[in-house]
Amino acid sequence: TDMFTYDPGFTSTASCESGLTYIDGDAGILLHRGYPIDQLAEQSSFMEVAYLLLNGELPSKSEFETFNTHITRHTMVHEQLSTFFRGFRRDAHPMAIMCGVVGALSSFYHDSTDINDPKQREIASHRLIAKMPTIAAMAYKYSVGQPFVYPKNSLSYTENFLNMTYSVPAEEYEIDPIIASAMDKIFILHADHEQNASTSTVRLAGSSGANPFACIAAGIACLWGPAHGGANEAALNMLREIGTPDRIPEFIARAKNKDDPFRLMGFGHRVYKNFDPRAKVLSKAATEVLDKLGINDPVLDTARELEQLALKDQYFIDKKLYPNVDFYSGVILSAIGFPTTMFTVLFALARTVGWVAQWNEMITDPAQKIGRPRQLYTGPTQRDYVPLGER
Ligand code: CMC
Repeated sequence: TDMFTYDPGFTSTASCESGLTYIDGDAGILLHRGYPIDQLAEQSSFMEVAYLLLNGELPSKSEFETFNTHITRHTMVHEQLSTFFRGFRRDAHPMAIMCGVVGALSSFYHDSTDINDPKQREIASHRLIAKMPTIAAMAYKYSVGQPFVYPKNSLSYTENFLNMTYSVPAEEYEIDPIIASAMDKIFILHADHEQNASTSTVRLAGSSGANPFACIAAGIACLWGPAHGGANEAALNMLREIGTPDRIPEFIARAKNKDDPFRLMGFGHRVYKNFDPRAKVLSKAATEVLDKLGINDPVLDTARELEQLALKDQYFIDKKLYPNVDFYSGVILSAIGFPTTMFTVLFALARTVGWVAQWNEMITDPAQKIGRPRQLYTGPTQRDYVPLGER
């Protein structure tokens, strides 16, 4: 058994080669195909970043138009898919619905089974990226008891998502450019993050040659956990529970207490031992968006104060715990009007781009093999079966 390296949580094992995303955790640097995340978040668009991650280069104007046309063409879901939603309880967590419905897409697209055909891979990738906003908005509509809204292809990717989420038949939804731009920025910031747990899950599921829609459903399941994507929901719930800045020390004390399982949600990261560069962009955006929308949410003050106090605390300094991407995103999403249960769904929508790009990279990597970790066996040594009556 000692021929294997024991590495629980894969803290020091590289599972693949990848040309998509670079992270320097000590310096707090994140690059997609070489481009710094803050430049992409401030100057690019989510669709452009999607093209970049999938194809390796920023698109020319005509490449961008063609890509947009392809994505737009696939925004509708099969009418029969809408019946899936009706099988769920109204109070089902939308992430539970996402796992089921995205997995069910695999039954609509059996043509995606030939993953070695680049054309089929491309169509599956476009379908996934295009249909996620439609499915995410349907999950929301179902939870609030409103009719589903069909995609409107004259709108941009992000505007279309907002329209499908907030439009009601009786009243045309007016897209606020401040909200659309904040949403697009959040999508960019969540698009990819190298070999995180859900991306590794998608790769592992895909390494057996499984249907890509089923692989993405596996990624959604993994993302749901509070240590991963579920942290955005948990972080805002925590900030609301803290309520007023005077209660912060109590929560910091709990986070430091070894006997209390409580952690500061939205703090700490496996790779970043410095500021998460995405949190920096979001921290700035949170103030801007709330200002522009004229919203005065005390939760932002609680977040700022908590960040200040934690960063000064010896425990957080020693363990190099800084705010991560999930710390401020919820403040913005809540200002836009999303319930906390939708936060991780939005993460999944954006991360689909990274999952799909990484899945494609894996399938075309000649070194790719089925993912099959080994173990250190700790169970009993060989023994003989005793019949039931003699036990
Ligand atoms: N609050 C209090 N203590 C913490 C926290 C926290 N948020 N995060 C880590 N620690 C402590 C932990 O108790 C451990 O202490 P010790 O060495 O004394 O046992 C030490 O710091 C290292 O933590 P770890 O759990 O061994 O580190 P990890 O790399 O396995 O976990 C993490 C990383 C993100 C799961 C963890 O920091 C965490 O649970 N954070 C809160 C949840 C969260 O915000 N997750 C979002 C991650 S960012 C992007 C995403 O995936 O959404």
